[in-house]
Amino acid sequence: MIPIIELRTQYAQIQEELEAAALRVLRSTHYILGPEVQAFEKEFAQWNGVQYAVGVGNGTDALQLAVRALELSPEDEVIVPSFTFVASAGAVALAGSKVVFADVDPRTFTLDPASLRQHITPKTKAVVVVHLYGHPAAMEEIQAICREHKLFLIEDCAQSTGATYRQQTVGGLGDLSCYSFFPTKNLGGAGDGGMVLTNNPQLFEKVQMLRGHGSKTRYYHDILGTNSRLDELQAAVLRVKLPHVAHWNELRRRNAQLYTQALEGLPVVTPYEAPHCGHVYHQYTILTPHRDELFEYLRAHEVGPMIYYPVSLHLQKTFAASSQGEGSLPVCEEIQKKVLSLPMFPELTPEQIASIAHKIREFFAQR
Ligand SMILES: Cc1ncc(COP(=O)(O)O)c(C=O)c1O
Repeated sequence: MIPIIELRTQYAQIQEELEAAALRVLRSTHYILGPEVQAFEKEFAQWNGVQYAVGVGNGTDALQLAVRALELSPEDEVIVPSFTFVASAGAVALAGSKVVFADVDPRTFTLDPASLRQHITPKTKAVVVVHLYGHPAAMEEIQAICREHKLFLIEDCAQSTGATYRQQTVGGLGDLSCYSFFPTKNLGGAGDGGMVLTNNPQLFEKVQMLRGHGSKTRYYHDILGTNSRLDELQAAVLRVKLPHVAHWNELRRRNAQLYTQALEGLPVVTPYEAPHCGHVYHQYTILTPHRDELFEYLRAHEVGPMIYYPVSLHLQKTFAASSQGEGSLPVCEEIQKKVLSLPMFPELTPEQIASIAHKIREFFAQR
């Protein structure tokens, strides 16, 4: 079986460094908010060209704390693309604001600026963009809309570590940006982890307080915070991996190119890379109206594709209260039936890609 992602090869490549880093932390007995987290926050901020970083427990918390830092009220609305992982919107709801879903661009699968405009009301206070699958959203248009309507802009960078927009790494293009270091991400830890980046010193201070029970001085609590911290073990692992991410992203781009060449002539839509965008292929996702049959065929032939995501968020039970029912966001509703993500990771070999493409060719030849 060629899985959607495989972590062993990468682990073996940097095993000694990883294990030395983990052992260093274990032996230090300093496990929470110590030198590793401090160093990694600095290194990750620098790597992304952003000033301030706060390490948190996971990507969902990163989003939740970012929204909470904006101090919105329960009536305030936050616009989120409906075609994304649940956390992009769930975090907004958990932070106590109203989620309003917008449609996505059919080629990049990211927030459609025209749909964003249509969903703005006098209550809209913020926008969450998601650089889905590793492709940057249409930031110039979205930044302009946010400026025009005085909206905060949060980037969900969980799938896009290292992606670029007009030569600039995403993550510094809004007011706050949120990362997940879930093990399968382009930069993944050995467990859960997350980060919030910002260039705004007030928002930085607010997120820092929120992750540690709302205090600046221990046992003096100015606001209601929580406990959500990146831990020292994760930070040490992530510090070993960070210098490799640019190369790993290059390998993902090479693999995407190989897939696209190998799938040429088949009735599938291969991923699009918009001008001025550097896609980092967290996922390599094709579109086909025969998605479900192809999914089953590949599974039966030793390939493990995945469907990210089968149901857009405005159609999920948990968001029924948004009352944006079926038919309200046509692009999301169309692509949820057609998307299929193929195995993608830096160490995937050209032979494996050729073999997967061959199976897809066989599937269509038999129809
Ligand atoms: C787009 C997106 N946002 C948010 C998250 C949440 O991150 P985490 O799983 O670390 O909470 C994820 C990933 O899992 C994601 O893919």
